[in-house]
Formats: sequence, structure tokens, C-alpha cells
Amino acid sequence: MAPTTGKVICAGLGPGDPDLMSLRAARAIGEARHVAYFRKAGRAGQARRIVEGMLNPSATEYPMEYPVTTELPFDSPDYTQALAHFYDDWADRLATLAATDDILVLCEGDPFFYGSFMHLHSRLQGRVPVEVIPGITGMTGCWNATGTPITWGDDVLTVLMGTLPEEDLVRHMEQADALVVMKTGRNLPRVRRALERTGRLDTAWLVERGTMPGQRVARLSEVQDHDCPYFAIVLVHGHGRRPEIAE
Ligand SMILES: C[S@@+](CC[C@H](N)C(=O)[O-])C[C@H]1O[C@@H](n2cnc3c(N)ncnc32)[C@H](O)[C@@H]1O
Repeated sequence: MAPTTGKVICAGLGPGDPDLMSLRAARAIGEARHVAYFRKAGRAGQARRIVEGMLNPSATEYPMEYPVTTELPFDSPDYTQALAHFYDDWADRLATLAATDDILVLCEGDPFFYGSFMHLHSRLQGRVPVEVIPGITGMTGCWNATGTPITWGDDVLTVLMGTLPEEDLVRHMEQADALVVMKTGRNLPRVRRALERTGRLDTAWLVERGTMPGQRVARLSEVQDHDCPYFAIVLVHGHGRRPEIAE
């Protein structure tokens, strides 16, 4: 590793409500002089929105704008190549900055749980020190928003991406007790078909913008296919495979 005086710190911000982030993350955000975050072109960015009012006024911001939509299938070559260049470029820029100063990267939820930061994390290994501050995952905020426990007893919780092919969704749903499906958005019709084929549609919920302003919690059967943003999670609660009997 080249000699550096700074490091890259990735702060997990939790599910959306700033009150749900760790003290360590809040402290790092207030102290940071360089702050980077992912966003779609032309958007404020979910992570940036969460820290509104928390940044040091003298901090320099580095919006990392995705070159393509993040909802395309992972096996699309154009998508993979465009993203690889994007992550290579930002890993280089962050490494250069960290040679002389700390730089904070913002990440919704927990950085190591399907977080885009992992693409930078792998590219920065051996180049600069990297520190990750854990966060409460988005799905945790979402199942709490439903007011019902997600798993108990011997329930198996399966976490799926809405970008998966329908047959894969069905195969995993058949095995699961409790279910979380992330990256819904335009994938919702496929997710819905898979839930219907596995008899789970009637008990599925959609949580949009969990713990954030504008949160919506609805039965999936009452939500139209076109009415689902990227920032939403489908949930099916487990019923407890081995209920514990109170003594
Ligand atoms: C790339 S993943 C990032 C996951 C994040 N690192 C975490 O720990 O939750 C983005 C997906 O997370 C889900 N998500 C995260 N937070 C959410 C929230 N507060 N409300 C609804 N969906 C959320 C959405 O399904 C979205 O498509």
C-alpha cells in the first residue's frame, strides 16, 4: 500500500430516517471535509438527502453519478462495462484524495449489504486504508414499518433481487418462509407473477420509502404494477416454523 495520510470511510446511513443512523456515522458526517455519494444523473441522491443539514458547511461534495440505470439485468454486457469504468474511475479519484485527507462515502442502509460501495471497496484494497461504518439495513426499516415481526421460530428468511429471472424467483420463493424482494421498480410484474405462482401474493406487502417522508405501506395485491418506484421492498412475513411456548 502506498503511503497515505488519509483513508476512505464509508458510512452506512440506515434505512432513511436520520435518527436511525449510528452515533459513529453521524459523527463522521459532521466532521468530514470530503463527502462522496452515488446518485442517478439529475437526482439529488437518496444518501445525500438523508444527511441534509448534517454536513459541515465547508465540506466539498463529490456526487458520483451512475452512467446507466441500476435496474438492468446484471448479464447485460453494456451495463457491466459502463459500470466497471465508472467504478474504476471513482476508485482512482478516491484513492488520490485519500493520499492526503480522509474522504467519507455515504451509503444507504449497510454498505456491505448489496451496497454499491462494495464495487469501490474491492478496487481500493491494498491502495488506501478503508473503514466501513455499519448501518441498519433498509429492509429492517421496512419490516418495522409493517408493524409485524418478519421471522420467528425456525423461519428461513430469503432475500431476493427483483432483477432475478422469474424461474429463479420462483425456485427461491418455494423454499422460503419469510421473503424480502429488493430492487422492485420496473421488475414488479415479474416479482408479482412469481409470488402468485408460489401462493405468496395474498400475504405480500410493499413498503415504499421505508422510514422516510412519504413512506407507504400497502398490500401488494392493492398496488398497480406501474405504481412501484425503485426504492421499495416487497415483504412476506414468516409465521414461525417452531413457535416457542411461554413457560
Ligand atoms: C442497492 S440496494 C441497497 C441496499 C442497502 N445497502 C441496504 O442495506 O438496505 C437498493 C434497494 O434497497 C431497497 N431499499 C433500501 N432502503 C429502503 C427503504 N428505506 N425503503 C424501501 N426500500 C429500500 C430498495 O429495494 C432498493 O431498490
